[in-house]
Amino acid sequence: MTTATLDLAKENLNKYGFLDLEVDPTLNLEEEIEKLKKEKNAIILAHYYQESEIQDVADYVGDSLGLSQMAESTDADMIVFAGVHFMAETAKILNPHKKVVLPDLKAGCSLADSCPAPLFKKFKEKYPDHVVVSYINCTAELKTLTDICCTSTNAVHIIESVPEDKGIIFAPDRNLGMYLMKKTGRDLKLWNGTCMVHEIFSNEKITKLQMQYPDAKFIAHPECEPHILEKADFIGSTSGLLRFTKESEASTFIVATESGILHQMEKHSPDKTFIAAPPNNTCACNECPHMKRNTMEKLYLSMKYELPEIILPEWVIAKGRACIDKMLEISEKAGL
Ligand code: 13P
Ligand code: SF4
Repeated sequence: MTTATLDLAKENLNKYGFLDLEVDPTLNLEEEIEKLKKEKNAIILAHYYQESEIQDVADYVGDSLGLSQMAESTDADMIVFAGVHFMAETAKILNPHKKVVLPDLKAGCSLADSCPAPLFKKFKEKYPDHVVVSYINCTAELKTLTDICCTSTNAVHIIESVPEDKGIIFAPDRNLGMYLMKKTGRDLKLWNGTCMVHEIFSNEKITKLQMQYPDAKFIAHPECEPHILEKADFIGSTSGLLRFTKESEASTFIVATESGILHQMEKHSPDKTFIAAPPNNTCACNECPHMKRNTMEKLYLSMKYELPEIILPEWVIAKGRACIDKMLEISEKAGL
C-alpha cells in the first residue's frame, strides 16, 4: 500500500468511521491479530454481541460491567474495544493515558443517541435534588451529568444504594427503568429512550415458539418491553442469561436479547438448544446493527494503525469519571 492511500484513508476516517483500506484476503487474520497483540501489548475487550470470530480472538468477552472492570484493571498499553462507542469511551475515561481504539467509530447505540446531554440537562432541572442514575449505555457527556452509573448486572444494587428519602432520575432506558421500579419499589423519573434491538421482539411469535417447545425456558434481557418481560422465566443481563443457561437443568432456551450471545451459550453448553427470540418482522433486527459494524478486517486495521482512536475532552474525562468509579465501588462491595 502506498503512503498516499494510507493518508487518504486517515483523512476519510471521520467520514466513514473506520480506515477504508483493503485487507489482503489471503491473510490469516486470527494469526495477524495475535501477533499485533504481542507486538503492541494490546488487549482486546469484546462484548457478547460481537460476531463470533471477534469473540474468539478477544482476550476477554463480557457484559458492560465486566468490560468496565477489565478496562479499569488492565496493564496493557493499548485497549482495543470490540463493542460500541459508549463502551470505548468508558474505557478511555478509566484510562486517560492509554490508547483506546474502536474498530468503527460509527458503532453507536440507539439508547445513547436518545439522550443528548443538552436536552437531558433541561429534564434534570425539572427534578432538583434528585440523584441521577444513568445506564452505562449513554454518552461520555451524559456521564458528566450523572451521579452513579449502572449496568444491567448491578442496576438493582445501584438503585438500592440511594437513600430511600432521595428521588431518582433514571436515564436513558425506559424499559430497564420500568423493570427497576417493579423490582425495587422505587419511583424513578424516567427518560424515554429504548434499545432498537430489544423493543422489536414479537409477543405472538414467542408464544408460538413456547407452544412448539413447551419445556423451553424463555429468558430475556431487562431492556425488553414489559409485555415481553412478563412472559420470561428468567430476566438478566447478558452475563446473567449466560450463567442461567449453564446452571439450568432445562435443555432448550428461547433467548430474547441480541443474538450474538448465542455463540457463548452454545460454546459453554454444546448439548443444549438455543433459539433466538424472533423479531416482529422478517428482518435480522435481533442483531444490533451498531455492534455488527465491527468486523475482523476493521479490528485488524485498528490494531495495525492504532486508529480510529477515542479522544475525549479533558473536562469530560475529569467530570465523567466519578459516576463510573461510584458504580465500580458499589459493585465491588456487592461482590459483582
Ligand atoms: P449487558 O451486556 O451489560 O447486559 O448490556 C447489554 C447491551 O445492550 C449492551 O449494549
Ligand atoms: Fe445499544 Fe441496543 Fe445495540 Fe446494546 S443492543 S448497543 S443497547 S442499540
